[in-house]
Amino acid sequence: VRIIHRLIVTALCTATIDVAMLAQDRWAVRSPNGISFSEFKGFGSWQVIAPSQPDDAGGCGVAKDGCIKAILGNAAMIKAYEGAGPTSDHTVPDGAMIAKVEWHRQHVAAPPYGVGVPGALAGVSVMVKDSKRFPQTNGWGYATFVRTGESDTFKASTDDPAVMKALCHSCHTRGAKAHDFVFTRYAAR
Ligand code: HEC
Repeated sequence: VRIIHRLIVTALCTATIDVAMLAQDRWAVRSPNGISFSEFKGFGSWQVIAPSQPDDAGGCGVAKDGCIKAILGNAAMIKAYEGAGPTSDHTVPDGAMIAKVEWHRQHVAAPPYGVGVPGALAGVSVMVKDSKRFPQTNGWGYATFVRTGESDTFKASTDDPAVMKALCHSCHTRGAKAHDFVFTRYAAR
């Protein structure tokens, strides 16, 4: 019996390893401007800065039912919200990181009342402050890692590094320059 047991355990372990090796390692994905997803490893346990639900769900790709986001910050970013928070004097320090996690909005009609909850994960957009690395965009590095299809694989949203300056930073400059290019305000709790 013990031998059979051991054989089964060995078979199960091998199967688990095979699946793990087949699944893509999301942390190996890299944005064309050099930002690797692995730099944000552990973002899932960062503090919530605020949730957001955009009127235009385009940010979640083609989400017809809308989009739910959670904007999270590492310890340096959370600290930057103390006092007046990020201001136009570029008060967010090097090392600060933000992850914006996006889900397709799912409506659950269950009693006692209907709710909009996070459905499928759409992707993760990130910002990292490093003035030496990203001098052309006021010290901010941008990347978006899009979840592809149903499987847990990710790819960079673009192959073109110029997009981060032309698209990401230009819009963040247009709307959030007065807050060191960060849109999201820290939600009270
Ligand atoms: C058309 C304007 C626009 C563009 C283009 C844009 N953003 Fe944003 N971004 C916003 C707005 C508005 C918010 C805050 C609302 C939200 O999405 O929750 C935001 C929020 C963020 C946040 C959370 C921190 C913050 O500033 O509030 C990150 C991270 C982020 N964007 C990354 C990116 C990346 C990476 C790109 C380029 C691939 C990009 N953004 C392009 C408008 C834009």
